[in-house]
This record gives sequence, C-alpha cells and structure tokens, in this order.
Amino acid sequence: MLQPKAPSGPQGIGLAGLGSYVPERIFTNEEWARRVDTSHDWIVERTGIERRRFAAADQTTLDLAEAAARAALTDAGLEPSEIGEIVVATDTPEVYIPDTSAFLQERLGLGEVPAYDLAGSGCAGFLQAVDVARSRVAAYPDRRILVVGVELLSRLMNWNDRETCVLFGDAAGATVVSKGGRVGEILSSDAGTDGSRADILSLEAGGTRLPFSVEGAQRGDHQRVVMRGREVFREAVRRMADSSRRALAAAGLSIDEVDLLVPHQANLRILRAVSRALEIDEERVFVNVQEYGNTGSASVPLALDQARSEGRLHAGDRVLLTAFGAGFHWSSLVLRAGPGIERSE
Ligand code: ACO
Repeated sequence: MLQPKAPSGPQGIGLAGLGSYVPERIFTNEEWARRVDTSHDWIVERTGIERRRFAAADQTTLDLAEAAARAALTDAGLEPSEIGEIVVATDTPEVYIPDTSAFLQERLGLGEVPAYDLAGSGCAGFLQAVDVARSRVAAYPDRRILVVGVELLSRLMNWNDRETCVLFGDAAGATVVSKGGRVGEILSSDAGTDGSRADILSLEAGGTRLPFSVEGAQRGDHQRVVMRGREVFREAVRRMADSSRRALAAAGLSIDEVDLLVPHQANLRILRAVSRALEIDEERVFVNVQEYGNTGSASVPLALDQARSEGRLHAGDRVLLTAFGAGFHWSSLVLRAGPGIERSE
C-alpha cells in the first residue's frame, strides 16, 4: 500500500546550512564537586550530564556566535554579503544595549540588513527564531536569514548555587533559513507560551522590576537564577510532548514516521520522559547532554549539527525538533532532511 506523502512546507522553506561551536575548555563534574557540595554520581544520576564546555575568559557571546555563524555560512556555500537578515536567540547577550545581532552584523561584515535578538525565551529561543525567520522568508522569498542560538551561561549563573550551576554549559549553533533549504525543508511548526508560570524559572535583576543597584550586586542578585527544578521538569516534559504532537499532526505524520527526535538537551531524565510520553524508542532520540549539559538556545542547533556529523541523518529523514524554556515558551519543528544533510564536517 502506498504511504501518504508528507505535505511540503507552504513555500518550500528550510535550512540551507548548519554550524555549531563549543569552547575548548571542558569542565568536569569532579571540578564542580571541588567547588560546591555535590558529586559526579549525583549529577549523572539526576541529570545525565558528565561534563560541559565553558568559554575562555577572553571569549564573549559574540565570539561563540561568530564561530557558529561562519560554520553555517560555509556549510550553506554562502558569503556573508548574501545574508539578508539576522536573528540571534540568547539570554546571555554581548551587552545590555544594543542587542547581540547588531554586533554580529558588524563582525561578519554584512550589509545594512535588519537584525534583531529574541531574548529571554530561554531554551526555546532558537526554534522560535527559526519559525519567525520562516515567516520572514515567506514575506521576502529571496531573503536568506542567519539564525543563531548562543549562550554563555557560565558567566550568568551563580557558581556557588549547586542546584543550578551544575546544569549549564556554553555553546552556539546556527543555520540559514531560506527558500528551498538543502539541509532540510520545514514541514510544520508549533509554538506557544504560558506566562502564568514565569516565576518557576527566572532572573529578575536588571529589569525595571529590580533595577541594578550596588546593594543588589553585593547580594549577587544579578546571578540569582530562580529555578523550581521539579516544576520545570514536569512542565518541560508535558509541553515538549504536546507541542511535538501538534507539529507532527500539522505535518501529517505519526511518531512512527519520525526518523530522529532532536530535543532540547535539558536533562537526560527529561529527554527519557519526553520519549516515553511520545512513545518513541530511545534509538530514535538524539542525546548529547552528557557532553555539553544544558546550553539553552544553542542546545537544539548544536544537537542537530552533531547528529548530522555523526551520520545519524540521511536525505529524506523526518526529523522532529522540540524545545522548552523560561517563559514558559515551547516550540517544535518538523523537518524533512534534504541532500545537504549528508555532508558531514
Ligand atoms: N548536588 C547534590 N545535591 C543537590 C544538588 C547538587 N548539585 N542540587 C540539588 N541537590 C539536593 C537538593 O538540595 C535536595 O536536597 P534535600 O532533599 O536535602 O532538600 C535533593 O538534592 C533533591 O533535590 P530535588 O530538587 O528533589 O532533585 P531532583 O531529582 O528534582 O533533581 C534537578 C533536581 C536536576 C534540578 C531536576 O529537578 C531537573 O532537572 N529539573 C529541570 C531543571 C532544568 O532542566 N532546568 C534547566 C533550565 S529549563 C530547561 O532547560 C527546560
């Protein structure tokens, strides 16, 4: 019997290239155990994380973003001058004002193109940005949009708070969204927000509610990431599973037709719970959280790029991407891998 063909994206819009960057410095669980009251075994048992990368002291968000962006441009066979727009998803910007995309425009030597950040949407930021970029390409069909997810979380987090510091890592990932993307066509997307749960994962300092002050800085407010871990865990599983189902339904696909699930790499237990909820076997779920920890908005493009480099993706594969982050925001995409997916670095 003939299988129904998955519908094409509305305008045949997709990813033209992929790139990622991780800093060289590996920071092990043992190193955390020497700084805070924790252990390698606790971290592995509760999170699956064995190590993560941290940026060097002289690296900034822009350096990470540039490295990933250049890799994505090379992969797409494009010169910077061929990029017509930039979107950067980050919670750890280069400076407070202006946004990181402005610095990236200058660093890459791009034309005077529109550029903007999606800030504060945590780990869902990259997929949200790809979805926005897709709608921009629908409006301007010849435009190629550079989308970067980048985090330098080691500079934001509180190094003395064992409940959060052990979770995070630094990285960047990038893609180019354009008509007829040869790495993968976007078949469908889903995104949503529930702002009523903003309080379970937040960083207030620096906003108008809690402006910077000397007293605040002395208290360490600028690094006070509030995270109610168990609630974040439950919401992450429910929202990523529900959003994945909606994205699959919009693409006319069942979970059995998915060749690889590439979820936001928050925590191995979250990934396993999402896989169980979706009833997808673990062989079809890409996991690299053990190597890099939770890299926020860089997590999905880094995982996708790595899955490709490891030969886990082939032309024609159906790939489900899903993420969940502070806000709470969630976002999922279904891709059909194109011929460009086969080229590994
Ligand atoms: N080392 C040792 N003990 C620790 C550590 C640590 N690093 N951190 C917390 N503990 C202690 C707690 O203080 C607590 O002690 P108590 O029982 O004496 O009170 C005990 O371990 C158990 O704490 P729980 O919070 O119940 O542990 P849990 O099994 O829920 O795991 C974790 C905690 C890993 C944070 C988990 O809740 C989680 O992963 N939540 C999701 C958080 C997340 O992914 N955040 C990332 C940002 S959002 C996103 O990416 C989706």
